[in-house]
Amino acid sequence: ENDDKVCVGILTVSDRCASGETTDASGQNLSRLIADGIIPNAKVEASGCVSDDESSIVEALQHWTDHLQLQLILTTGGTGFSRRDVTPEAVKQVIEREAPGLSTLMTTSSLQVTPLAALSRPVCGIRASTIIITLPGSTKAAHECLSFLAPVLPHAINLLT
Ligand code: MTE
Repeated sequence: ENDDKVCVGILTVSDRCASGETTDASGQNLSRLIADGIIPNAKVEASGCVSDDESSIVEALQHWTDHLQLQLILTTGGTGFSRRDVTPEAVKQVIEREAPGLSTLMTTSSLQVTPLAALSRPVCGIRASTIIITLPGSTKAAHECLSFLAPVLPHAINLLT
């Protein structure tokens, strides 16, 4: 039954979520959006939280691509300018091909909402048959960005399967 489902992973990158200091609102909201069908026929196959640590992020992404072979991984958090924001650097390490158009779509659409979108440093790309997308950390921002990308993701996923 999973064979005809798009398998999605949601990786929250946050020191405060990983330490238990706060709950993972953005990751949970993304899971709900997937369950509610924002991407047709998709299901959340993996979700988790890691701290803002480059090698922890790389390790999780490698496991979810190489072993779980998910079709789509959404990260949330760690894309900004503060010293601990290293999600883009980790994603650059694991992708084989960059997909700057997805980042451009996310940024140009987000700039219609707030100029603060310029403070996110998205990196999107492909490792094997897995698309990896870096969403911002706030629940609102991640929600908006997934909404902007959702119309093109089914076609992107189809091209890799
Ligand atoms: N994108 C959208 N669509 N809506 C937003 O409210 N907030 C921005 C930006 N992108 C925002 C957005 C802000 S305030 C920051 S600091 C950056 O995303 C980076 O967020 P992160 O460090 O939590 O990943």
